[in-house]
Amino acid sequence: MEISIPYALTAELTHRCPLHCVYCSNPIELQKREHELTTREWINVLEEASDMGIVQVHLTGGEPLLRPDVNQLIERARELGLFVNLITSGVGVTMNRIRQLARAGIDSIQLSMQAPSADLADSIAGSNAHEFKKRTAKWIRAAGLPLHMNVVLHRQNIHLVEDIIELCVSWGVERLELANTQYYGWALVNRQHLLPTREQLADAEKAYVRAKERFDNKIELIWVIPDYYEEFPKPCMGGWGEISMTVTPDGKVLPCTAASGIQTMTFETVKEKSLKWIWEDSASFRAYRGLDWMTEPCRNCEHRFRDFGGCRCQAYLLTGDSSQADPVCKFSPHHHLVTDFVASMNEKDGYRSDSDPNRLLPSYSYRSR
Ligand code: FES
Repeated sequence: MEISIPYALTAELTHRCPLHCVYCSNPIELQKREHELTTREWINVLEEASDMGIVQVHLTGGEPLLRPDVNQLIERARELGLFVNLITSGVGVTMNRIRQLARAGIDSIQLSMQAPSADLADSIAGSNAHEFKKRTAKWIRAAGLPLHMNVVLHRQNIHLVEDIIELCVSWGVERLELANTQYYGWALVNRQHLLPTREQLADAEKAYVRAKERFDNKIELIWVIPDYYEEFPKPCMGGWGEISMTVTPDGKVLPCTAASGIQTMTFETVKEKSLKWIWEDSASFRAYRGLDWMTEPCRNCEHRFRDFGGCRCQAYLLTGDSSQADPVCKFSPHHHLVTDFVASMNEKDGYRSDSDPNRLLPSYSYRSR
């Protein structure tokens, strides 16, 4: 079978983070600082990635700016000709730090945001972060860098999607990802507080379409689909081991950021194997590459060329078996695991689009502080 060249590398520099977002997709068991790769090891990763033909690197975390060597890594990545994007919470960032990133050659910065009002945003993040973000956005624009933003949508903020878009536009956003929550890590733990109702979702989709028309060429708006409400699964990661790879803070190489949650699989580390070998030959990357691994109902399904059987992590988290069809699929024998949950969330309590945005939030489970 022909193996493609990966396009992007996600480098999770650290799991340390000033935020404690209730939907964080980082694993429940976070890597400690003392296990993080050294600067030299990260530079090796970047050099190997470039040799393989990778063109884009996303520096993320946790909060990647907690690593003092970020500028050094950006400079090396740029020397190698990689496009470098940095994903940050914006907390603890100074104007000087943003200028340094610009001087190091960063291509774009993606800033996360939780909600349009500080009260709600800070409750969701478990930290007083909103005002920091506002300042960071201003400094990113002042440094002449493109501002990309990401807002995770869920039951507590999705009714405010129009306000969210307007606020991001007022901060100077060029590209805004409206990411409906994907249920891995802490998001799965808290999903009974996060899944929006069908009515909320319909209202939000209308607001998104209105904003698309209103801001047309001014900003790029991305809508990440809420797959629990779909009949067919998303083509997760563009297929397992097809487009991108993730290196965790301690050097494990994963086909996607959530894959360490699959406890029945073992993942190789850059401390022992080359990135190229892991991509091409490791059992973990080969496990679900292509279509041959599929069993029914995927094996003969006409959708398999489009959705690749859906998400392996979701299949594992909901059924305990990562080789199953994604239960989001209406043909999956486990589809009821999704539909029953969705039904229970729609029966539970009413939703009003005029509900108070600052109402008391439920008691979530948070990642460790
Ligand atoms: Fe891992 Fe979908 S998140 S395959």
